[in-house]
Amino acid sequence: MIHWYKIDKASMPALNSITKLSIAGKTICLVNYDQELFAVAWKCPHAGADLSTGWCENKQLICPYHRHAFDLSTGRGAIGQGNYINTYSLEKRGDDWFVGMKSSFFKRLFRK
Ligand code: FES
Repeated sequence: MIHWYKIDKASMPALNSITKLSIAGKTICLVNYDQELFAVAWKCPHAGADLSTGWCENKQLICPYHRHAFDLSTGRGAIGQGNYINTYSLEKRGDDWFVGMKSSFFKRLFRK
């Protein structure tokens, strides 16, 4: 089940930049790449670098440590890397943006 969380306007990244924010107990990166918005994981699966300090090229997020590249739409790592990052759905409602996150089985199980 996907829950939608409103993104604080102050957390929105400027054009061609990346912000890191916590939402619903999760930390994610918001990426504004050529006026298109993406929500992806903040931590590189290779050795744990903070992807919010990386940069974008050719619609890929580049890790600042060892230059692994991840497709902004799918999260798929470049050929030969054998890794990926999570991506999250985004939706614009009026002037507000929302990010969709799956709730875990255990959260659903113990919710009142
Ligand atoms: S930590 Fe990201 S490529 Fe190595």
